[in-house]
Amino acid sequence: MSNLVLALSDLEMVAQSITFILAGYETTSNALSFIMHTLATHPDVQKKLQHEIDAVLPNKAPATCNGLGEREYLDMVIDETLRLYPVAAKISRLSKKDAEINGVFIPQNTKVAVPLFLLHQDAEYWPEPEKFCPERFSKENKDRINPYVYMPFGNGPRNCLGMRFVLINMKLAVVKVLQNFSVQPCEETGEIPLKLSKELIVSPEKLIVLKVISRDGAINEG
Ligand code: HEM
Repeated sequence: MSNLVLALSDLEMVAQSITFILAGYETTSNALSFIMHTLATHPDVQKKLQHEIDAVLPNKAPATCNGLGEREYLDMVIDETLRLYPVAAKISRLSKKDAEINGVFIPQNTKVAVPLFLLHQDAEYWPEPEKFCPERFSKENKDRINPYVYMPFGNGPRNCLGMRFVLINMKLAVVKVLQNFSVQPCEETGEIPLKLSKELIVSPEKLIVLKVISRDGAINEG
């Protein structure tokens, strides 16, 4: 019997947990709020998504992590929401050595910011960039997307540690809500399109308020 060797001390475990809460709480909460606002303001997309969910999980069957992969339109909706609202507006890196990239000289020890928000809205890569269009991420189109232009979770060895976890988490949440409710804009919803605040984490300027309608008989499927 070999002795058990713990790789992390108690203090390191606490520090990691705090990092996860700081990096994971508001980002997830904002992303889910953006998804719900987008669905409320695009009822055709919401209805199509509900049909997909109902087809894969009849009679409000609980979603499982394995079954989530089959929901193509849900992925498209989440991807497109994170294009319009990349919760982290920018990522940054420190250059380890002098480098020249595309004719731009970057000296050693320079902090380089990559503006995700601007890249995700650049008309050179996204026709009608302000338009919410999940079809950009369809199976046929997805492969054509440049992974250095669309990167809501960053890229490379230091990309988001929580990416896989949060994608499953958000899908489970969206499925559960849409199985039971529909969302609509109401008087308190405020301006459409959404006004954003200029914080490090992209957030709505004002709290998002939506009307929530139970699907048990209340939704008009016509
Ligand atoms: C929709 C939700 C989220 C978004 C949009 C998001 C986005 C990002 C982005 C853009 C980065 C920087 C990546 C880079 O510089 O290349 C990052 C880093 C990070 N994220 Fe997330 N994140 C989300 C949720 C989470 C969650 C739930 C967790 C943890 C449970 C998490 C943990 C981390 C950690 C630890 C880092 C730092 C990674 C490193 O420096 O090696 N994130 N995230």
